[in-house]
Amino acid sequence: NPASGLPRNIVLIGFMGCGKTTIGRILARMLGCPFVDLDLLIEQKAGMPISRIFSERGEAYFRLVEAAVLHELAAPGPPRIISTGGGIITRRRSRTLLKQLGYVVWLQAPVDTILERTGRNRDRPLLETDDPAARIQALLDQRMPLYRASADLEIDTAGLDPEETACGILESA
Ligand code: S3P
Repeated sequence: NPASGLPRNIVLIGFMGCGKTTIGRILARMLGCPFVDLDLLIEQKAGMPISRIFSERGEAYFRLVEAAVLHELAAPGPPRIISTGGGIITRRRSRTLLKQLGYVVWLQAPVDTILERTGRNRDRPLLETDDPAARIQALLDQRMPLYRASADLEIDTAGLDPEETACGILESA
């Protein structure tokens, strides 16, 4: 079982639409280890979908639940692949927890790729605006330094398919 070869968690961070969930699933399959999607855990803990958490409780509440779920993941256990939501790095406490959790990989993608993927994928309350491109750019400007400060490895996925990206991560992890 190759999972025994994974010495610690691999934590995927990066903006919405950069492929964290897709690549996380591939990595977990390649390694034969569990995959954990933080957004799903948040929905379970809050008992409602992310869009409703934002509309009924607001972003601040979402961030509280997000931080609590991240904290729970820090409990000892077998190594896993952990995919996070794009805004995980906005709270300082969560940035500290990320580093403690394992090997942090920052997935990057060009803005037009992000725009295209987030336009056709599941709902993203933060991008429900008349000008999603401008919102993406503004959020990226705020967040780039925070991703950079949190990451052990940066990967530009432009021109790579998800399998190639996953292999690149495994070579460096
Ligand atoms: C968010 C990203 C989303 C989700 C929520 C907030 C963000 O996750 O956590 O909508 O602040 O960037 P994905 O990055 O998986 O889309």
